[in-house]
Amino acid sequence: MGVHTVDVALEDLEHDPHAVIGRIREDHPVAWIPALKGWLITRRDLVRSMMRDAETFTVDDPRFSTAQVLGPSMLSLDGPEHQRHRGPFAAAFRKPEVQRDFADIVRSEARRLVRGIALNGEAELRVDLAGPLAVNTITTALELVDADPATVRGWYDDIVDAVIRTSTGQVVDDIRPASVDHLAGHVRSSIDAGASLVTAAARTLTMEEVVSNTGVMMFGGIETVEGSIANAFVHLLTRPEVLSELDADPALWTAAVEESLRLEPSVVQVDRFATRRVEVEGAIIEEGDFVMLSIAGANRDPSFYPDPDTFDLHRENARTNLTFAQGPHVCVGMHLARLEVRAALEAAFTALPGLTLTEPTPITGLVFRKPVRVPVMWSV
Ligand code: HEM
Repeated sequence: MGVHTVDVALEDLEHDPHAVIGRIREDHPVAWIPALKGWLITRRDLVRSMMRDAETFTVDDPRFSTAQVLGPSMLSLDGPEHQRHRGPFAAAFRKPEVQRDFADIVRSEARRLVRGIALNGEAELRVDLAGPLAVNTITTALELVDADPATVRGWYDDIVDAVIRTSTGQVVDDIRPASVDHLAGHVRSSIDAGASLVTAAARTLTMEEVVSNTGVMMFGGIETVEGSIANAFVHLLTRPEVLSELDADPALWTAAVEESLRLEPSVVQVDRFATRRVEVEGAIIEEGDFVMLSIAGANRDPSFYPDPDTFDLHRENARTNLTFAQGPHVCVGMHLARLEVRAALEAAFTALPGLTLTEPTPITGLVFRKPVRVPVMWSV
């Protein structure tokens, strides 16, 4: 049995995760990382099968940060309880429902946001387009009464802040932010008003459960989408040859979105806890061990994606990326998210001629990855 401990500094993982993960994967696809106090799994086949094995690798553990902040929800439960929590939300966001209920709204919202900046000749696309599109879309989707996008953004920022503090190991006594109580008030009045998503959820879930799962929808649907849109702009604006190919053949836009999601998943990894002692690739994972399934690692596994660091519009298996996870917790919002990324790109590249970056835009982050800013200019 080999040694599976790999010393790696968090700063390196944050700033250059792909190179670091690539090196770890080569020798130790199942590696104990002391700095993260857990196992990091980086080979795609292992990540995928562990995501699908919720009996052995569960989210249901008191250490799970989102549950500490929001209370138990689909994101922190497994088995039949997980299905019960997830069911009403998943039903509203299947592909046909998303096409029917959101496609036009999201596209016209993206165009509206772009129209708002078009005459300026310059913008910062994260704050001016990616963020607002994500927030406005989830606000529309949740249909909460008296909750405009600014209110939703405020709740969201509070919740994320609390989750990040918990997941980075900071001890916080009163972890439930006041925003969760405000959200609860709006969920209650929305059910009284008959808003469709929360009212459907309230048929099978308690009020607390509707609130925690609504919070998870918000938590899941803002930062991730904002990051994915920002990442996609960076990918395309730094690759003129890819943009020319897209100009020549617009049918390749779907591939461009997938390839961007594969190369830079905005959620780097998903966290699990081992429910029993188990051997994986010669490493002994003990019951209770913290296990990180690296989406970033899986998405650039060279045995599955040849030449994995290249942005390739013709990669046949790009859509098999694990950016939205797989198995029981596969992202509820993945169809909506893909629609949002595509809508943002199309709106901007159609209406802003000669779009170019005006500064370098490094993508950073240990948990969520995105550029801090995406400053651009175009011809007016
Ligand atoms: C590009 C954007 C997005 C990315 C990269 C992303 C990624 C993910 C990932 C990796 C998971 C799995 C978590 C795990 O296995 O522990 C997940 C779950 C989830 N996502 Fe997303 N997501 C995105 C957009 C959205 C949107 C727009 C929504 C809401 C409309 C959403 C709602 C959820 C929910 C509710 C879950 C929990 C599902 C469960 O535990 O059963 N996500 N997402």
